[in-house]
Amino acid sequence: MKVIIKKNQQEAGVEGYKVFKEAIQNGAKVFGLATGSTPVTTYEEIVKSDLDFSDCTSINLDEYVGISPDNDQSYKYFMNEHLFSKKPFKKSYLPDGLAEDPEEETKRYNKVIDDNPIDLQLLGIGRNAHIGFNEPGTSFDLETHVADLTDSTIEANARFFEHVEDVPKQAYSMGIGSIMKSKKIILEAFGAEKADAVAKMIEGPVTEDAPASILQKHPDVVVLIDEAAASKL
Ligand code: GLP
Repeated sequence: MKVIIKKNQQEAGVEGYKVFKEAIQNGAKVFGLATGSTPVTTYEEIVKSDLDFSDCTSINLDEYVGISPDNDQSYKYFMNEHLFSKKPFKKSYLPDGLAEDPEEETKRYNKVIDDNPIDLQLLGIGRNAHIGFNEPGTSFDLETHVADLTDSTIEANARFFEHVEDVPKQAYSMGIGSIMKSKKIILEAFGAEKADAVAKMIEGPVTEDAPASILQKHPDVVVLIDEAAASKL
């Protein structure tokens, strides 16, 4: 793991952008993308830049179950707002939160990932070290699946909703098995509330209790964090 520590999220955004730029220069065509407050500054720097994704494909990590793409809490809506409306991709995939048959939807999404091997996967991390919505205890071998969100994740994500009861209880998520197939991974984490998760990921044992710890086994991972998130290393 290559660990880069920046003063704050703003400065880290520039670094995140550089990782995307270098990937494009090296021929990357398929980008795995993430939502949440973490990747926002990286997306801002990408939007300001002259990077061109019109010949590229994006595949998002996850989407809430039961939420329509027009809902402003959907990850589809987030991606349009922060990236796609300003930097369109040739094709952008997200799980369909309204899919009628969840099993078919996970199969469809696994095929999308198999047909479009990811060159660079961007990740955030949950306070309990989840990645995507692979909560502690999830098998490292899983591919796309429907995940039950833990109470701590529901509580953490409640800040984006009017009431905590509005936070969906389930989500489609790429599995760790899918994430680990990506050629290169960049994981970003900012703020003191991520410090425990970051320490477990980098220094802890590789265990399904701290899903991000599996990244220690991936050959090409950049961990981009701010000083607060690095405070327990
Ligand atoms: C959610 C997402 C994750 C994200 C995490 C952290 O649970 N499924 O992909 O990394 O939250 O979110 P934030 O970046 O807002 O702290």
